[in-house]
Amino acid sequence: MAGQSTTITVNGVPHAVAAAADTPLLYVLRNDLALNGPKYGCGLGECGACTVLLAGRAARACSISLQEAAPWPVTTLEGLEQNGVLDPVQKAFVEEQAAQCGYCLNGMVMTVRALLNVNASPSRAQILEALQYNLCRCGTHVEIIRAACRACGLTEQEECQT
Ligand code: FES
Repeated sequence: MAGQSTTITVNGVPHAVAAAADTPLLYVLRNDLALNGPKYGCGLGECGACTVLLAGRAARACSISLQEAAPWPVTTLEGLEQNGVLDPVQKAFVEEQAAQCGYCLNGMVMTVRALLNVNASPSRAQILEALQYNLCRCGTHVEIIRAACRACGLTEQEECQT
């Protein structure tokens, strides 16, 4: 609705957004706030490319409205780095070179970060469970899982256990 404004805090910064309350959070992040870490994949909550943190928990920004998200602090991929230091999850993905086209990476990184927020030392099985609905069409899952295991502090030997 014209003239409507909603305040939402993203990466620690409050923003007054002139968008309809039912606008998908993903559109607000990308179009109004120029935060392009979250990607538009399916738009249906099924691929995970748009994942952000809502109060530290993984949320699919394509499937939650501005109004629904506004009460909670939102963190995007851009907000993980602190004072020029990558989040350990980002660092692990770089070290493992866990990307091909890279389109799914936002969702992979944010989902692993969300897992670590609630479980500081997850098992490989828990990592796989957390990532089971994050899709990668390039078939880079092996590298992605290796990076996720590294981010979660699993050794190479532990990674091989199922
Ligand atoms: Fe949101 Fe696919 S774009 S889950």
